Amino acid sequence: MTIALYPGAFDPVTYGHMDIATRAAAIFEKVVMAVFHSPASKRLLFSTEERISLIREAVRDFRNIEVMSFTGLTVEVAREVGAQVVVRGLRMATDFEYEFEMALMNRKLAPEIDIVCLMTSLEYQYVSSSLLKEVAQLRGDISSFVPPHVAAALKEKLGVPA
Ligand code: COA
Repeated sequence: MTIALYPGAFDPVTYGHMDIATRAAAIFEKVVMAVFHSPASKRLLFSTEERISLIREAVRDFRNIEVMSFTGLTVEVAREVGAQVVVRGLRMATDFEYEFEMALMNRKLAPEIDIVCLMTSLEYQYVSSSLLKEVAQLRGDISSFVPPHVAAALKEKLGVPA
């Protein structure tokens, strides 16, 4: 069975992430979405449990997508779940350098695991979790970027009226 690990902070999950996860689920037999527990570089809005539960709700119709949290190295969790592939989404050219650097490091750490980058669909090229949080905070419409339950959770967390 070909298993793909799709790691990220997912703070929160967006339709852009869903686009990558569901396309990966059509290619690989199983996709494990792995929520990074404590990215040191990021100030997170949602707890790990909240991020997991928002993703679970978003992917509940997909029988071959699982969700888990992880700490430590991505390649180590890939090994633990038996993934041969790590999936990443590429939005625009600026993502490339970061992804390329990470891919090279991951390949060095775990040569048996391959990194597969899927090009994000055009409508999500400019979506990021940080931008969405800012738009939501300023009471902009985020309904085309996140599922309704994520929009509701964002508004509640940010204290924005529904
Ligand atoms: N659609 C919409 N937004 C997307 C997206 C897509 N397809 N793909 C990425 N993004 C956004 C994310 O929402 C995020 O936005 P934000 O910065 O505003 O929060 C941004 O792009 C970056 O996300 P991503 O590329 O997924 O990075 P991340 O910070 O969420 O996760 C890890 C990075 C967890 C995969 C990486 O830090 C890691 O592997 N850590 C584990 C430790 C390790 O192994 N380190 C060595 C790595 S070589």
